[in-house]
Amino acid sequence: MYRTHDCNSLRKSDVGRQVTLAGWVHVSRDHGGVIFIDLRDREGLTQVVFRPEENAELAKQAHSLRSEDVIEVSGRVAARVPGTENPNLATGDIEVVPNHLGILNRADTLPFPIDAEPHSEDLRMTYRYFDLRRPRLARNLRLRHIAAKATRDYLDSQGYVEIETPILSKSTPEGARDFLVPSRITPGKFYALPQAPQQYKQLLMVAGVEKYFQIAKCFRDEDLRADRQPEFTQIDIEASFVTPDDIFAVTEGMLAAIFKAASNISIKTPFDRLTYREAVGRYGSDKPDRRFGIGLVDLGEIFRESGFKVFRGALDTGGVVKAINAKGFAGITIGQADELTEIAKLYGAKGLAFIKIENGEWKSPIVKFFLEAEKAALQSKLNFEEGDCIFFAADKWKIACEVLGRLRLRIAEIQKLLSASEVWDFLWVTDFPLFEWSAEENKWNAMHHPFTRPKAEDIALLKAKKFPEIRAEAYDIVLNGVEIGGGSIRIHEPELLEKMFDALGISPEDRQSQFGHLLRALCLGAPPHGGIALGLDRLVMLICGEQSIRDVMAFPKNNRGLDLMTQSPAEVDPRQLRDLSLKLAKDKKV
Ligand code: AMO
Ligand code: AMP
Repeated sequence: MYRTHDCNSLRKSDVGRQVTLAGWVHVSRDHGGVIFIDLRDREGLTQVVFRPEENAELAKQAHSLRSEDVIEVSGRVAARVPGTENPNLATGDIEVVPNHLGILNRADTLPFPIDAEPHSEDLRMTYRYFDLRRPRLARNLRLRHIAAKATRDYLDSQGYVEIETPILSKSTPEGARDFLVPSRITPGKFYALPQAPQQYKQLLMVAGVEKYFQIAKCFRDEDLRADRQPEFTQIDIEASFVTPDDIFAVTEGMLAAIFKAASNISIKTPFDRLTYREAVGRYGSDKPDRRFGIGLVDLGEIFRESGFKVFRGALDTGGVVKAINAKGFAGITIGQADELTEIAKLYGAKGLAFIKIENGEWKSPIVKFFLEAEKAALQSKLNFEEGDCIFFAADKWKIACEVLGRLRLRIAEIQKLLSASEVWDFLWVTDFPLFEWSAEENKWNAMHHPFTRPKAEDIALLKAKKFPEIRAEAYDIVLNGVEIGGGSIRIHEPELLEKMFDALGISPEDRQSQFGHLLRALCLGAPPHGGIALGLDRLVMLICGEQSIRDVMAFPKNNRGLDLMTQSPAEVDPRQLRDLSLKLAKDKKV
């Protein structure tokens, strides 16, 4: 038997017991011949002490132990010498005095010390199996398991059935690039890895499943960020005969169960709701972080007749003038002003005007264009006081909002407005636009996917081709400024789907080749249905207090999409390519 106890279980009441433990040498210290080992397993640490006067042979053996060697020890549990107890350790009152030491395996030179945060993420990823021994990451994996289990238990209790859908599937138009898998048996044809099980889950509704879920692997070939991986996991949900309220209720119940199980946190339901127009108009983002103030204020009324041509010009051409008041930010440095101006330009602004009040004086080159009445109105509308700094955006609605939204986030960062206290701000954002204009393709695209249902009141606008005004029965769920999920009620009538395809400019041939199966299914008694998918990685990242989803995934890709541990992607044997009837272009960039 390798062990009678784990390394986190022995207490004072066990003193005198004969026990066997197994694990890794976390730290070994030599105090004048006495060897102290912190023995670690996944549950915790236990101190093991080899004293030469008690067992010279064992102490000599222990002397050779190095960090991360794997050992087993048998011995007697003893109380620590009074005054040497460690109150920070669950097992801090005792130590094990061994009469047997088994060295099960030695560890080579370590890639990095296990008890320090390594500087290089590449090094961590290359030795990921070693990195994962670090307690923080080990805890993250356990929390992820608890979250997944709570998800399954909760959805099962609500009558949802977990069903697996294919990984070798067909390209679905979720908006990102597909990963393709060549077919050996049908040369020249490809499977696509699913970007999401979207079409399959809708087909399961036609199949009469009524309540489906899956903890589903999804694959998207897109540029990576801290909260994006090429391969990630969704809690994917679909149900029949539902309204958005039904989907909101099951999602809220599930999240409450997950937070309770993972961190014993009771979250408040139901969650607030904002429409897309409200969220973007007030916070400059469709995933607003509401943990700090700095709301966007509309100044159209004040500046309608303004003599300042930048503001007047924006209003006269159907745009808006909006502003945010950064309280206490009048001390803004030139470097900060430059950085914020760069951000504004990056998101489409032509410039960034700001005014600060210092010593009772409004400081800005644009103040001279303002009438006294405009200044008074501005002051009262923005609660503009000594020490404050106002930033303006005069542009099309979308650009002005986004620019101020981005500034708002950066200013909150600079001003350290996020307190350390744990706040869980859940929010539904509803009524997204159905379409979004692609300047690149010069056409309207579906903002979510083509199966998203227009709001009943807006279906007439579809016939009238008033695309920008049409709202979708689509919703996102946001937690602390992170989009953790999104979904919609779907189009279940073939005629309406055809209208949608018309609007999207999808040709009859493409409809059949890409969506024929779905169109046929909708003609065989498809129930009304809708659903949602939550990013499990993002959710667990937030629960764990991590900044990157990589820290809650066992084997993530790095920010260049590489698995440094296995060196994947990798070249393959030419015979494998021949089997697949594939030939590499000589210039690999082709
Ligand atoms: P959507 O594309 O919004 O919706 O994805 C749902 C959620 O999945 C997470 N997510 C990601 N997480 C990590 N890395 C990525 N690359 C990544 N991409 C998305 C996000 C996102 O909110 N089929 C629809 C859902 C539906 O309509 O039911 C879908 O996939 O948290
Ligand atoms: P100009 O008249 O172009 O010199 O601009 C005067 C001030 O307004 C400068 O501080 C610009 O950065 C700023 N500005 C210019 N365009 C905009 C805009 N669209 N929104 C907000 N500020 C702007």
